[in-house]
Amino acid sequence: MDSARDVIGLVRSVFSRRSISISRAFLNRQFSTQNQRARSKLSHSKLEGKVALITGAASGIGKETATKFVNNGAKVVIADIQPQLGQDTATQLGPNASFIACDVSKESDISKAVDYTVSTHGQLDIMYNNAGIACHTPLSIVDLDLAQFDRVMAINVRGIVTGMKHASRVMIPRKTGSILCTASITGIMGGLSQHTYSISKFTVVGIVKSVASELCRHGIRVNCISPFAIPTSFVMDELREFFAGVDDQRLIDMIHNSGELQGTYCEPGDIANAAVYLASDDAKYVSGHNLVVDGGFTSMKRLGLPAPDQVH
Ligand SMILES: NC(=O)c1ccc[n+]([C@@H]2O[C@H](COP(=O)([O-])OP(=O)(O)OC[C@H]3O[C@@H](n4cnc5c(N)ncnc54)[C@H](O)[C@@H]3O)[C@@H](O)[C@H]2O)c1
Repeated sequence: MDSARDVIGLVRSVFSRRSISISRAFLNRQFSTQNQRARSKLSHSKLEGKVALITGAASGIGKETATKFVNNGAKVVIADIQPQLGQDTATQLGPNASFIACDVSKESDISKAVDYTVSTHGQLDIMYNNAGIACHTPLSIVDLDLAQFDRVMAINVRGIVTGMKHASRVMIPRKTGSILCTASITGIMGGLSQHTYSISKFTVVGIVKSVASELCRHGIRVNCISPFAIPTSFVMDELREFFAGVDDQRLIDMIHNSGELQGTYCEPGDIANAAVYLASDDAKYVSGHNLVVDGGFTSMKRLGLPAPDQVH
């Protein structure tokens, strides 16, 4: 009796083990194929069905981000102060991109850009306040040009606050949305640029935390990205002024060699990738964050000690 039960038990266990191993192998295969399909879909369409408004997207970081957003399935409205360049960028990006003239220092322009986005696409999911300018002021606080200070703040700070205000107006009723801003490493450490620009970028990080604290109650995330130096138009203009007569390639190399992470340098695509992440559902629980894209630059500082063989 016992041995008969043992035999039945053995057969059952072998049979069930076999059937488990067959179904596990089958399931594993199925799961991995489905996973691969999902992964490849996700890696290319992280923003499928989303609508984005990006300021300062006619060139540089904004243009690269608009390109990656469109490639990830989003519909993008490019809002910029340069009409020809903005229109050309929209044309290059195809039917999922359009352009609206907008000076972010004017509240009515931002309000119109938000209304245009909603009336064209029915919704606004991502507001990327990216437009910003350099300050072109003397280095010392003693020589600070306060009229220029006000002009820079009107774009780099007030423009961002205004963008948040009008994006919130249409996002709050839908209880969803992602607001992004471009800050800078010059808003993390002092001494990396003139005071005016640096102060404007420190402020952006503060605005993000302040506004995120309110909008979290409405399901809206607010984050910023702090890029390392990249030789885009406004940086090149500043460098040409500062290093008069030096050729462009030399200036580009100087910027590319100014980082800490060896074997690579910061490019607009690195910032655009960060923006895709923060705008997408991959970052669904990330808010109030400053995503620093600087190859570790602002995380380190060296003691100015001499090498041992230099000390006698
Ligand atoms: N390039 C860098 O090294 C770097 C580093 C950190 C942060 N940033 C920030 O990145 C953002 C984008 O700059 P970028 O490097 O791509 O430079 P960029 O000059 O290539 O692009 C800036 C864009 O903003 C637009 N713009 C300027 N004033 C505007 C206004 N009043 N209203 C609407 N649009 C306006 C310009 O026409 C341009 O298309 C800026 O906020 C900048 O401060 C740049």
